[in-house]
Amino acid sequence: MQLAHRIRFVPNSPTLALTAKAQAMKAEGRDVISLTIGEPDFPTPEHIIRAAKKALDEGATRYTPAAGMPVLRKAVARDFQEAYGLDEVAPKEVIVSSGAKHSLYNAMMALINPGDEVIIPAPYWVSYPVIVTLASGIPVFVPTTLEERFVLHPDKLRAAITRRTKLILLNNPNNPTGTVYKKSELKAILDVVLEYPHLMILCDDIYRQLIYGRARFHSIVSFGEEARKRCIVVDGVSKAYAMTGWRIGFSMARPKVIEAMAHIQSHTTSNPATVSQMAALAALTGPRETVAAMRHKFSVRRKFMLNKLAAVPGFEFHRPKGAFYVMPRVSKLMGKLTPDGELIRTDTDLAMYLLEKALVAVVPGTPFGAAGHIRISYAVDTEHLEKALDRIGEAVMDLRDPGV
Ligand SMILES: Cc1ncc(COP(=O)(O)O)c(C=O)c1O
Repeated sequence: MQLAHRIRFVPNSPTLALTAKAQAMKAEGRDVISLTIGEPDFPTPEHIIRAAKKALDEGATRYTPAAGMPVLRKAVARDFQEAYGLDEVAPKEVIVSSGAKHSLYNAMMALINPGDEVIIPAPYWVSYPVIVTLASGIPVFVPTTLEERFVLHPDKLRAAITRRTKLILLNNPNNPTGTVYKKSELKAILDVVLEYPHLMILCDDIYRQLIYGRARFHSIVSFGEEARKRCIVVDGVSKAYAMTGWRIGFSMARPKVIEAMAHIQSHTTSNPATVSQMAALAALTGPRETVAAMRHKFSVRRKFMLNKLAAVPGFEFHRPKGAFYVMPRVSKLMGKLTPDGELIRTDTDLAMYLLEKALVAVVPGTPFGAAGHIRISYAVDTEHLEKALDRIGEAVMDLRDPGV
């Protein structure tokens, strides 16, 4: 039996060995702290859970229209309109899918022809290249650096555009770097895009409500009618409302794009789970204090984490303003020896060392297109964060130069 060729493009997780080891150590009863977490560690707000239970009792157990319940599409349209300061967003300009990942996949399936190129600034969220490839597109990576705050520079973008470029994937705030784009930086990207009549931008704004300090969220879609025509915006309830398990994502685009995505969805997953749609409706139309409270907690942890990390030798980072990740560059530690005399050659070696020595799990940067970096999440309580960061600090201090 031979599997389809496309399976070759779905890599085994390069962090599999690391995750397996962390799990095995935990199973042995060792006090491993995981800073790999990609979801809020808070429960879904109570009023949302209550709304979902009530909906079930009232019979929310059947199919809905494939693109989502009209009442939810209306609420999503209003939410997009208010959050992005748009004149009017019609329900036919939005679609509800089974998580933001599904929204991204539908968008790619609706827009990409075989061989179309999709520009992905690196570091990137690990699923992007796979989603592009499964849709028969070609991912084109444009590196960004710590010195640039991992912001896509317009000249680098222009240099990456070819006749085949169809789409740019822009994630703001960013996973894995926590970068939040400034308005001027987005405007510079839009100016390049507008030089090319058929180029579209996919804005993955799933972390848009998780921004700290004085930073503000901006999006290209808010820069006028022509900008709006070029954008597909993806959002959802997973991160802002601590609803990762409910699997609800939203997209906003021109009705033609939304219609195409709805066709695809109607023949693949059909409607997102009806009870989850009711929960998402409660999230969008109910009180938002819980979002603010969660944001505040993340903001306190972020500051705490950045202060702690500043004391770790060899860790270089900018002060990210969004999401719940920091991505220190650790390339200065490459070439060092562990106390057992093992050479740290890569970010994966360092992550393995931190797991073994400090009992802290972090994610190596390589799968994010960021060799020489690691991703650290602060979706854990401050007590564990403090313990983990102290241990990381001690383990790094124990590294030595060869020959010393
Ligand atoms: C950048 C980014 N986009 C999309 C998603 C997917 O969100 P969802 O859980 O709603 O599918 C994630 C989840 O980690 C993410 O980090």
